[in-house]
Amino acid sequence: MNWTPRRAVLSFIFSLLEFCSLCNAEFVIRVPRAPLVAIHGHSTVLSCTFPVGGAFDLASSIITWQRHLEVVHSFYHGRDQLDLQSRRYANRTSLYHSELGRGNASLWLDRTNPEDAGEYTCSISTLIGSQKKSFPLKIAAFYTEPHLQVTTSPQGVELKLTSRGYPTPKVRWLDGTGAELSNKTQTALLRDAQGLYEVSSSLTQERGANSTLIFILQNRDLGQEIRREFSLQSEAAGISSHESRSGPNAVLAVCLSAFLMLGILGIMLFLWKRKCFPRPDPEADREEASSEQKLVNGTPVHGWTS
Ligand SMILES: *[C@@H]1O[C@H](CO)[C@@H](O)[C@H](O)[C@H]1NC(C)=O
Ligand SMILES: *[C@@H]1O[C@H](CO)[C@@H](O)[C@H](O)[C@H]1NC(C)=O
Ligand SMILES: *[C@@H]1O[C@H](CO)[C@@H](O)[C@H](O)[C@H]1NC(C)=O
Ligand SMILES: *[C@@H]1O[C@H](CO)[C@@H](O)[C@H](O)[C@H]1NC(C)=O
Repeated sequence: MNWTPRRAVLSFIFSLLEFCSLCNAEFVIRVPRAPLVAIHGHSTVLSCTFPVGGAFDLASSIITWQRHLEVVHSFYHGRDQLDLQSRRYANRTSLYHSELGRGNASLWLDRTNPEDAGEYTCSISTLIGSQKKSFPLKIAAFYTEPHLQVTTSPQGVELKLTSRGYPTPKVRWLDGTGAELSNKTQTALLRDAQGLYEVSSSLTQERGANSTLIFILQNRDLGQEIRREFSLQSEAAGISSHESRSGPNAVLAVCLSAFLMLGILGIMLFLWKRKCFPRPDPEADREEASSEQKLVNGTPVHGWTS
């Protein structure tokens, strides 16, 4: 027999060394190094992997996903444990159970929304070691094709662009030479029911000048840039301003002459009536009233005689 006490001691020391190297230096879990960006309304995978030694035992492993102190998902005693899960995450999370034995504790998160943003922590505890690591999750939504509204007035033209996305965008307006037009523009942000931003930005350009205007919207988290260019062509300035000044005056003149004519007609009618019925007696008044009623109601002749 080759078996000697010396060999037994050596093999014991070797296995002890192997075990200690695993429990100290080797148990390192991996999570994303850069912030993870998820698209609003879609699912995302929060990645977390851990080393598995030869003797991996799922039943004695604990996997917990948290956002700050909020429990996102937990797994122990060999199954999902969702009693302490935050209601916000109910029915939206799952682990890949078949991947756990390979050291993959990635979490699937469905229907993401802006409120899911934050610092996520993956904690792993197994027989060979334990560690936790955090990384930020950002939520973003591509800004939609901008809706353009053009309003013209005698003074000029207003361009208004409206779009929806997340997070807050950077909005700029440039002229044809690339200069910023910040003092002619107004940008407003509203939060909708889903938590997305509705941005509307308007620029007012005076009448009478030909110009090129450029609208730029950037969503930095997604590297998205929307750029729209507008060319405004104006008629000769003199004519348009003349038209705008004479317009209201002409309308006023027409109204005044109409009032005058109505007044004269009324006086003429009054005078003519007085000539025909110089002293209208009460009897005639009553007849007139009933005949008017007849005309109005269109009642037959018996109504007039009774
Ligand atoms: C999750 O799904 C279950 C079963 O479909 C349902 O009863 C429960 O109301 C859901 N919870 C939430 C918060 O949607
Ligand atoms: C973990 O499992 C998921 C689901 O199968 C997969 O998408 C992901 O790439 C895996 N991660 C690693 C590091 O293998
Ligand atoms: C806007 O800024 C430009 C250049 O900075 C300036 O020439 C112009 O007078 C400003 N217009 C108004 C309305 O303030
Ligand atoms: C603007 O451009 C149009 C056509 O190119 C031209 O007829 C007009 O005179 C220009 N107006 C001004 C104010 O430059």
